[in-house]
Formats: sequence, C-alpha cells, structure tokens
Amino acid sequence: MKLLERTGHQRLDRYELVAELASGGMATVFLGRILGVGGFQRFVAIKRLHPHLASEQEFVEMFLDEARLAASIHHPNVVPILEVGTSDRGYYLVMEYIEGDTLARLLARAATSRNRIPIPIGIRILLDTLAGLHAAHELKDDNDHPLNLVHRDVSPQNILVGINGTARITDFGVARYLRAFPPSLFAVGFRGRRTRLSLHAGDATRRWPREVLSQPNCRTPPSCAGARLDR
Ligand SMILES: Nc1ncnc2c1ncn2[C@@H]1O[C@H](COP(=O)(O)OP(=O)(O)OP(=O)(O)O)[C@@H](O)[C@H]1O
Ligand SMILES: [Mg+2]
Repeated sequence: MKLLERTGHQRLDRYELVAELASGGMATVFLGRILGVGGFQRFVAIKRLHPHLASEQEFVEMFLDEARLAASIHHPNVVPILEVGTSDRGYYLVMEYIEGDTLARLLARAATSRNRIPIPIGIRILLDTLAGLHAAHELKDDNDHPLNLVHRDVSPQNILVGINGTARITDFGVARYLRAFPPSLFAVGFRGRRTRLSLHAGDATRRWPREVLSQPNCRTPPSCAGARLDR
C-alpha cells in the first residue's frame, strides 16, 4: 500500500484518498476515508477510472457496467459497491474496504515462506468464492429474468480474503451477461469494443471464437464427466 501525501489534491468529492492500493490499465484503486461528526470515520476502497479514459465512451461504459452489475449483487462473498460517482477527476466507484489481502498475495507469501495454506482454510476460501460466484450467476434483471452473468476473471488477485476469514469475489470489469430479449431472441451483452456483439441464439455462423452457446448450469465434477451419481 502506497501512502499518499496529505495535500488538498488527494480528495475525491467527500472522500479523502489515503493510499494507493493498486493501479492497472483502466483504473487505480485507493484506500479512501470519509469523516463524520464526533470523530466518525469509515474506510472505503475507491476504484477510479484513469482520467485520460473519461472521454473514451467504451471504457466509461465498461466501468459503469461493472459498477451496475456488482452493485446489484448482494451477497456476503461479493465485495459490496456503495456508490458510483463522477467528479472533475473522473468516474469512480466506492466499495466496502476489505481489510485483509488478496488470495494472490497470500499464496505468494505461502510459497516464499514454505508455509502452505492449511487445506481446511483453502477449502473455505474456495467455497466462499463459489458462493459469491453463484450469487452472481443467479442475478436477475428488474423483470425477474436471469442475467446469466459470468465473471470471466476469477483469479487470485480478484479474491479478497478479509482478516475475519471471509473470502469475497471482486472485479466484475470484464463480466458478461446474457439477457432474454424478447423470449425467442437472445441479445448477448458483451462489454468493450473488441467483444461487443449481438446474435440470435443458435446462429452458429456468427459465433464468437472460443465461445460456446448454451444454458449456464451448475454441476458437480462427476456429473460433468458423465458419471452416474445414483447407486
Ligand atoms: N474493496 C477492496 N478492498 C481492498 N482492496 C481492494 C478492494 N478492491 C480492490 N482492491 C485491491 O485493488 C486491486 C485491484 O482491484 P480490481 O481487480 O478491482 O482492479 P483492476 O483495475 O481490475 O485490477 P486488475 O486489472 O489488476 O484486475 C485488488 O487486487 C486488491 O489488491
Ligand atoms: Mg482485478
């Protein structure tokens, strides 16, 4: 975590930016703080779209889509979105700050110290992550139609393990959803210039490379392998 100098520039609307947590191609994630009366303070994580991308409509759409999708999922294993805003320094989304570490850093530390993550803890992290992803898969639109949301970037950097032991999935930046519209026709919502596309279900001639069109489904590994589960 890189602490920021306490100057007037380190503000974003009502949030004070305390430290830089990470920076990628599209956004920087800050540790932010909001102050209230009587010494109240609350820490948040603020993901801010890089200011130079604010005029790029595709990036802004992707960023706002990420915010909308993640804000619709209310589950203990998904990082909650508290607010989306825009300021003279660009678009930003405010998340609950998860005090802890990414699974990526926990694994790296375990590898260098040769202290393996104990199997029960590893399984807990996995189950938490799956529960969060399941909540995302179950997301429905305002008309109660399944969005069939797929995260598409499940990686140790995007799994935050809190000091309370709970793991949460984050970063719906490249998630994709499929919307029923109208019943016989499917519009597939992709995000980003490179992946934007609409198609009719079953139209194999316009299938995106390496995409399989099917119904999302939850299965156990043995049933995926075609094994009989009943005895
Ligand atoms: N709510 C949060 N609480 C604490 N740390 C966070 C939070 N959100 C993000 N981070 C930190 O910021 C990093 C990047 O966040 P995120 O994956 O959302 O951004 P990104 O720009 O998509 O990054 P990348 O391109 O590396 O995936 C995370 O790996 C984590 O270290
Ligand atoms: Mg990420």
